[in-house]
Amino acid sequence: MTNKINTLGGYIHEYQKSVSNPEAFWASVAENFHWRKKWDKVLDWNFEEPTIEWFVNGKLNITENIFERQLFTHGDKAAIIWEPNNPDEASITLTYRELFEKVCQFSNGLLKQGVKKGDRVVIYMPMVPEAAIAMLACARIGAIHSVVFAGFSSNALADRINDAQATTVLTADGGYRGTKVLEIKKIVDEALENTPSIERSVVLKRTGSEVTMKPNRDIWWSDVIAGETLENKAEEMDSEDMLFILYTSGSTGKPKGVVHTTGGYMVYTAYSFKNVFQYNAGDVYWCTADIGWITGHSYIVYGPLLAGATSVMFEGVPTFPDAGRFWEIVDKHQVNQFYTAPTAIRALQAKGLEYVEKHDLSSLKVLGSVGEPINEEAWHWYHDHIGKDRCPIVDTWWQTETGGILISPLPGITPTKPTYATLPLPGIQPILVDNEGNELKGNSVEGNLCVKFPWPSMLRTTYGDHERCRQTYFSTYKGLYFTGDGCKRDEDGYYRILGRVDDVINVSGHRLGTAEIENAINEHPLVNESAVVGYPHEIKGQGIYAYIVCEADAANHDEEQIKRSIISTINKIIGPIAKPDKILVVPGLPKTRSGKIMRRILRKIAENNASNLGDISTLLNPEVVASIMDKAGVAV
Ligand code: PRX
Repeated sequence: MTNKINTLGGYIHEYQKSVSNPEAFWASVAENFHWRKKWDKVLDWNFEEPTIEWFVNGKLNITENIFERQLFTHGDKAAIIWEPNNPDEASITLTYRELFEKVCQFSNGLLKQGVKKGDRVVIYMPMVPEAAIAMLACARIGAIHSVVFAGFSSNALADRINDAQATTVLTADGGYRGTKVLEIKKIVDEALENTPSIERSVVLKRTGSEVTMKPNRDIWWSDVIAGETLENKAEEMDSEDMLFILYTSGSTGKPKGVVHTTGGYMVYTAYSFKNVFQYNAGDVYWCTADIGWITGHSYIVYGPLLAGATSVMFEGVPTFPDAGRFWEIVDKHQVNQFYTAPTAIRALQAKGLEYVEKHDLSSLKVLGSVGEPINEEAWHWYHDHIGKDRCPIVDTWWQTETGGILISPLPGITPTKPTYATLPLPGIQPILVDNEGNELKGNSVEGNLCVKFPWPSMLRTTYGDHERCRQTYFSTYKGLYFTGDGCKRDEDGYYRILGRVDDVINVSGHRLGTAEIENAINEHPLVNESAVVGYPHEIKGQGIYAYIVCEADAANHDEEQIKRSIISTINKIIGPIAKPDKILVVPGLPKTRSGKIMRRILRKIAENNASNLGDISTLLNPEVVASIMDKAGVAV
């Protein structure tokens, strides 16, 4: 694939081209792919409704672009190198040809089971090669996949299945994560008690744990592929046919199904992958994300494979068997580009350098960061001790909704600055606005980050509720896509992401809505009401702080016991990723006279910062603030 930028001058030139004539720019990138039928028009859009269509009436299949388009040149190259949780288990390499055969075989099996184009298929699997095979087989036959991170609870899984009206679940008996064995099938069984749309579930054997297979519903993966050929003709898809749905949290209680479509997502993920990681033929690239998140979709599976890259997929966690596991894998597979989240960097930094120094990291060329702001200390540690001062760091800013990286340095090309995502990629037109929506022009400004022109991999809708998509992203500032992030543009025109400006918190790079956690907490019979806020956390970036007001009969219960049972309620409704770091039982929540919870005050208390609480005398219940502070141990 061409369209690779090599110099700063080249970047500036490409950027200007992409802004002055976006249609011509993206058409020239799209020319590199195989289209069964070329598009009639590059772009149709308005941000009011919104309607966004790229490569209108183009016909293609994304997996044909991963496999058939590249088999002559890449057939014997490694597509996926899979590294298991336990280093004593052998890793697996699948060449492009081998992966293709497995995808075809599983596609045939799914078709035989009755899965059709347009069906929604939920994937709830551990990080094994079959998870990628499952996604690609869905794409091959035109089924819409919706991957749910295997750390979500059965309730959360059932909600997503029901929202998507999925017919099929692809899953496994269990999974390994560090010292834990995840009971994946059991969670699926619980979820499927309340999911009438489900017709079948396909179960991969991974751990060999004992599972219950329900007749006429559950079928082993090995039985699905038995007797199937290794050839399959890909379904023809329209550019704007849905490729996948991925659920993500917003400021309301209910996660939304972000929809990505085929043509534009393909073009943008491949283009951004090649440029942001400066991937060269023969390089080994590793992104440590889970495929349950957008990073895993775009930069473990689709982007790298479309670019003919070798993508490492890791089943385990950074600290098992010890905190050197990442660096051992870098050494073992001679990884050239390494992409992880600040939370992992901070966690490993805290373990000390001895785990780093044991391993040879000389293969590394580019380091990436994603998911949350990277603090200066972590940036320097990553740069000095992992990159040994010679690997550029790409601090990549993007979102589930953007499909691909929008703001990032190009390594070795864009001069970097710690904590800055730096400059937009070609085709991306960021704009900062104040709270009234006025554009903040020039440099040295700070405001709400929006994008004023479409790019190929942007979300098209939220599944089953287009109005919600319009409301959430396109109505706050007229004519603009609103990201929900605050951002600064400094004196050099560099962008620095400041974090969310809505009620979304980012815990270890995972996005959680405070309302979603509150809804879960409020399900507890002893809870009267609650308020959740984020606060700075040394390792996780943000921690979850939950203020709880109990019902009167809670007085008969031990407070620690109540807290433990609140945690288990959250585990049941959302999953362990939403576990609060602090729970404080308080006599009441500070409210305005109209009954709105004053989160600003609760955030300050969570930050252990009692200065500047503002005028609290206008509150409905000003006296409650002192008692919360007292309980939180915050000095006045
Ligand atoms: O607040 C931004 C933060 O993560 C949010 C998107 O979360 P999610 O959709 O889960 O996708 C994460 C992986 C792309 C953004 O709104 N975020 C993401 N990358 C960065 C970031 N914040 C600062 N710097 C980044 N590089």
